[in-house]
Amino acid sequence: MGQRTAPAPQSAHAPQPAPAPQAEPASEAGLEEHFERTIAAEARVEPRDWMPDGYRKTMIRQIAQHAHSEIIGMQPEGNWITRAPSLRRKAILLAKVQDEAGHGLYLYSAAETLGADRADLTEKLITGRQKYSSIFNYPTLSYTDVGVIGWLVDGAAICNQVPLCRSSYGPYARAMIRICKEESFHQRQGYELLMTMMRGTAAQQAMVQDSVDRWWWPSLMMFGPPDADSPNTAQSMAWKVKRHTNDELRQRFVDMTVPQADALGVSLPDPELRWNTGRGHYDFGAIDWDEFKRVISGGGPCNAQRVARRRSAHEAGAWVREAAAAHARKTTTPYPERIGATGGAPRD
Ligand SMILES: [Fe+2]
Ligand SMILES: [Fe+2]
Repeated sequence: MGQRTAPAPQSAHAPQPAPAPQAEPASEAGLEEHFERTIAAEARVEPRDWMPDGYRKTMIRQIAQHAHSEIIGMQPEGNWITRAPSLRRKAILLAKVQDEAGHGLYLYSAAETLGADRADLTEKLITGRQKYSSIFNYPTLSYTDVGVIGWLVDGAAICNQVPLCRSSYGPYARAMIRICKEESFHQRQGYELLMTMMRGTAAQQAMVQDSVDRWWWPSLMMFGPPDADSPNTAQSMAWKVKRHTNDELRQRFVDMTVPQADALGVSLPDPELRWNTGRGHYDFGAIDWDEFKRVISGGGPCNAQRVARRRSAHEAGAWVREAAAAHARKTTTPYPERIGATGGAPRD
């Protein structure tokens, strides 16, 4: 797997110089100790560094699921591109969906730095062997869903992802910095769309409320199962892959979103939602974890459609990948080898 080199810990934002000369750790134990010291020093683990197999597997799984979520996440909003209500809204939505494609590509590249093969990851997605965020298995029934996805789904993604800018794996942490800037823009465009609708007719206001009612609980599920049912959290926190638990992030999202809902003039569909002075946080009602488990394991309203569309797009794109690979071979192979040893006379 990884090379058996152990560079000195580096600061998060320092350029990446050649490893400082030092004695090569003599054993696996020495390499592991160096890895632990790197984590403890808040330095980054880089692709060339030795890392435990468990860390590598965890990072590949997390980054792949994140990449798949970005790519599958293009579908619910892509559904409204041809029906956006104005040229301006269509241009915004197109740009937003393209951003998500870009996020997916960064993340597949980050997974490749760990030795994962992108074709293999795609295969795992389209055969249902790797998961993506449960949220994208819900349908977008009206145009206001575009605004609510920007506000709540990108908002929840920001809560999840800002701490990942300090994730211990360098390529992932650096990808997150740019992705978070774009997610923040997505959230604001969603909120602006909803503000515009809320200044409109009673029918438009009702559409916004209907979207909020449908997306609120699935948004809370985006943070994953409660801490008590999240067996991998402790190890991910120890490796500083994860900085906060699922429940901490969910609470942060609720605390951030309630005042935004008030400013917007919508209600959140939870009668138990109220400020708790003692805790300094909002209390909220019980999440339907049976629904979460059903949706994440394939039983949501759109799981089959999302994966089928991804599979057919992948298959329909085979000729593009073949052409790109042929072009790459042509431009990287020296000309005499290209025409073959007994090839004809050069044509140019
Ligand atoms: Fe994204
Ligand atoms: Fe986004």
